[in-house]
Amino acid sequence: MNEETIHLDSVRFYWSKVADFKIYIPKLEIGRGEKVLLLGESGSGKTTLLSLICGFLSPISGDIFLNEQKLNDLKANKKDQFRSDNIGIIFQQFNLLPYANVIDNITLPLYFSKNRDSRVKNHREAALNLCRSLQLSESTIAMQANKLSVGQQQRVAVARALIGNPSLIIADEPTSSLDASTQKKFLDLMFRQIEEHKSTLLMVSHDSSISNYFDRTINIKDILVREN
Ligand SMILES: Nc1ncnc2c1ncn2[C@@H]1O[C@H](COP(=O)(O)OP(=O)(O)OP(=O)(O)O)[C@@H](O)[C@H]1O
Ligand SMILES: [Mg+2]
Repeated sequence: MNEETIHLDSVRFYWSKVADFKIYIPKLEIGRGEKVLLLGESGSGKTTLLSLICGFLSPISGDIFLNEQKLNDLKANKKDQFRSDNIGIIFQQFNLLPYANVIDNITLPLYFSKNRDSRVKNHREAALNLCRSLQLSESTIAMQANKLSVGQQQRVAVARALIGNPSLIIADEPTSSLDASTQKKFLDLMFRQIEEHKSTLLMVSHDSSISNYFDRTINIKDILVREN
């Protein structure tokens, strides 16, 4: 296998305060530049797994490596910096700044990462290019995020994840609220962008019919053991 972007080894994590959800992931390896689809039923732990990989959650035991960096070894502020530099994240609920306009939402990661900022000469130009390639019309660019349709918000969330070329894109069901034809258009555009930037992609979905877009499909029940 080529160099790994994501490597999990004997990871245990428990959600215990609200509901008892105890999981064990013996091993997960995703190579650099691989595009991987993660399938699984609602409540099976997909978002929990992505949150562990992004370092928003910490495992109780075991190791998580991203780009050969062991996440557990980083203090909180270093972990935040590492995440900003290396990961473009498309959250299940997008997490756009509602009162900020489209351009400001897209360029936000550049203020948190010198690495990503250094790859972008002109913030506005870079954001506009991404908008064009994601078919977000000129008229939406100055709009506040909370005035956009769900499909438009999804494209803004993708542009924000891609700007400044992070090596890893993590996407949590970015197409869940799109109809079949809009979903296809959206995936074509997102994949073109990701291939151009040679990023690694880990994307969650319920929908196995999109697996032909990916190098590999993983079903969460094959990698994650429920311990309760
Ligand atoms: N913030 C939380 N606090 C406590 N338990 C949680 C929390 N988030 C998730 N869980 C538990 O973890 C389980 C897995 O949730 P998770 O969000 O990872 O599932 P999912 O596969 O992403 O589901 P969906 O497809 O609906 O998004 C849930 O059933 C819930 O019991
Ligand atoms: Mg989820």
